[in-house]
Amino acid sequence: MSKRIVVTGGTGYIGSHTVVELQAAGYEVIIVDNLSNSTAAVVDGIEKISGVRPVFLELDCNDKEGLRRLFQSYPDVRGIIHFAASKAVGESVHKPLEYYRNNIVTLLNLLELMPEFGVQGIVFSSSCTVYGQPDILPVTEEAPIKPALSPYGNTKQINEEIIRDAIHAGLPFKSIILRYFNPIGAHPTAEIGELPNGIPQNLVPFITQTAIGLREELSVFGNDYDTPDGSCIRDYINVVDLAKAHVLAIVRMLETAAGSPLEVFNLGTGRGVTVLELINAFEKATGVNVPYRIVGRREGDIEKVWADPRHANDVLGWTAKESVEDTLLTAWNWQKRLRDR
Ligand code: NAD
Ligand code: WQD
Repeated sequence: MSKRIVVTGGTGYIGSHTVVELQAAGYEVIIVDNLSNSTAAVVDGIEKISGVRPVFLELDCNDKEGLRRLFQSYPDVRGIIHFAASKAVGESVHKPLEYYRNNIVTLLNLLELMPEFGVQGIVFSSSCTVYGQPDILPVTEEAPIKPALSPYGNTKQINEEIIRDAIHAGLPFKSIILRYFNPIGAHPTAEIGELPNGIPQNLVPFITQTAIGLREELSVFGNDYDTPDGSCIRDYINVVDLAKAHVLAIVRMLETAAGSPLEVFNLGTGRGVTVLELINAFEKATGVNVPYRIVGRREGDIEKVWADPRHANDVLGWTAKESVEDTLLTAWNWQKRLRDR
């Protein structure tokens, strides 16, 4: 039985770490990426870690005929992990049509081609963003989906509905939707990690760039929230732990008859951490000071969210293992590797 998997967005942050774990599990990976938010050098990093160079096709998932040629060239593809998307929340507010096209048409192309080539299943990258500000914490998969606060978040909600409706209509494939909380950190080898374009929007890359001197100081967006220290709470999950969840999802979806045709899992640690706690954890783990200033709230930020990961723990057989402190150290080591390149 083939073990060939297509990973769209596979030179991206989460995708590259997932390719490494898929290879470790014996899968043969084909990376499809248009390099709109990554570089082909990531393939070298993957090879350095695993010793196996994945097939890499520079291809836009909006190019349906290009995808068709891919599946014609590799007729034994068993499954897909679909990471490819535009993911900057703030940017999506200013470029909604670009986000709707890129994040929705790419999924439609894959879903339409899968039955033609007997692709058995697709793992989809979703986000805790779909929950908005949950009424009950920790948040379970049964929590209501709230109106999206950004076009980006809306694309994730729409994509989940598209997959649900496709499977309800009887299309011959399975799907597992993974709702990530806040992925952070880098591979322990520091061969791959997060490569934010321009000024980082996310907290941890901004912390590491401030710590290394690329940024003057970190702005903490608000300390007047209803939280222990007034700063926002998130569930920060190690990117390698997250990658390992994808392997378990692929195995469950393709190698077993377990579960229903469509399953949803929250991927988080189950532990909420405030912004100020994260800064303190970074300074404790690295011994490096992070100058910061409390400023006003960032528009669109929710106050607090963390996962109830019991469904993934019990059904997927997955648990986040790495501590926030150890994970922040991998982020710091990666930032130092980028400086020394
Ligand atoms: P990333 O930007 O590092 O990776 C996405 C990759 O997809 C990039 O390499 C980019 O070049 C590629 N890509 C984008 N559009 C494409 C297209 N049309 N065709 C081919 N390749 C394309 O982002 P990431 O952080 O690795 O996120 C991966 C997925 O996880 C995304 O779907 C994102 O929405 C989702 N997600 C990310 C986070 C997070 O905090 N990083 C949280 C929740 C969900
Ligand atoms: C975390 C906390 C900020 C930067 C976003 C997307 C989500 C997902 C992950 C794609 C917040 C605070 C941040 C800074 C700060 N991406 N912060 N100063 O907003 O939880 O989630 O990225 O799917 O969909 O919404 O992550 O890292 O941007 O912010 O104080 O310079 O850090 O206010 O409380 P967020 P983040």
